[in-house]
Amino acid sequence: MRLLITGGAGYIGSVLTGMALEQGHAVTVLDDLSFQQDSLLSLAHHPRFDFLQGDARNPDVLGPSLEQADAVIPLAALVGAPACDVDPDRATSVNLDAIRTLLELRRPEQRVLFANTNSGYGSHPDAVCTEETPFAPISLYGRTKVEAEGLVLESGNGLAFRLATAFGASPRMRFDLLVNDFVEQAHREGVLVLFESGFQRNFIHVRDIARAFLFGLENFESMEGQTFNVGLSDANLTKLELAERIRRQVPRLKILESVTGRDPDKRDYLVSNDKIESLGWRPSYSLDDGIAELLKVCRLMPRRPYRNI
Ligand SMILES: NC(=O)c1ccc[n+]([C@@H]2O[C@H](COP(=O)([O-])OP(=O)(O)OC[C@H]3O[C@@H](n4cnc5c(N)ncnc54)[C@H](O)[C@@H]3O)[C@@H](O)[C@H]2O)c1
Repeated sequence: MRLLITGGAGYIGSVLTGMALEQGHAVTVLDDLSFQQDSLLSLAHHPRFDFLQGDARNPDVLGPSLEQADAVIPLAALVGAPACDVDPDRATSVNLDAIRTLLELRRPEQRVLFANTNSGYGSHPDAVCTEETPFAPISLYGRTKVEAEGLVLESGNGLAFRLATAFGASPRMRFDLLVNDFVEQAHREGVLVLFESGFQRNFIHVRDIARAFLFGLENFESMEGQTFNVGLSDANLTKLELAERIRRQVPRLKILESVTGRDPDKRDYLVSNDKIESLGWRPSYSLDDGIAELLKVCRLMPRRPYRNI
């Protein structure tokens, strides 16, 4: 298929673009390179890869880039609650208005596969969140993503993945994601200070996120119009449990608890990924695989921040 991936030079996009090319798709990436990243350089040789630097909010840029696409994966966003709170107008225009523009411009036969966050479930400490659980997003980030998902589904010929917190290596590395951040701190400082240590989250390897999108492209007819949680079913863990898993691979790690500090998204939930697994999709990378990989990343990228804020 011919794919347009907006935000394809980002943490998820630069992994997905390479994997989509390997599977035989043709990929055009539209990205404004917000982070001056050169994450797609190693793909420049590829005859089925093309890149446009531009703003996914601008219809004069988005319209022509859409023309040849069979399917669109709009990843361009201001990602994470802290980044959105720094510039709420930009967050709303990139995360929501640009999706509205995309849906107006695309032809009805062009498929849209949307990346939502499962932080849209809000705080549900006692329940297992399925795709039927009502959304209760707390941050502006969560609210814009949830609203955009609604627009995609309403518009037809689309589907949405509700992604757990990603971890693992990417050419556009992010150390502001929980597992990546904890492993980096464990490696660098040998100490982790936890707040809200009993809050539970669900995690997923960045390459498994890419595999979910490729699965969605392959099985679009049976998945169209629906939403799917995508996470590791055996990694619904509290922050304390995550820290303890990291300590298995970093034995000198000291884990301390703090009563100050709060998550702006108040993420505290268990997530069921049964729906996508019932279609035959399975993750390929465990949390322990990811921790081992991230320790290598720390050695490869000493003291480089790579955070969204
Ligand atoms: N990483 C996660 O854990 C996670 C979890 C759930 C959902 N998501 C969603 O996945 C998508 C990608 O997230 P990510 O982790 O790769 O984030 P990222 O910040 O690494 O990637 C975002 C990309 O969008 C680009 N961009 C930003 N504004 C743009 C604009 N106006 N025009 C064109 N490009 C623009 C940036 O340059 C960047 O390459 C986002 O939609 C995010 O909401 C991510």
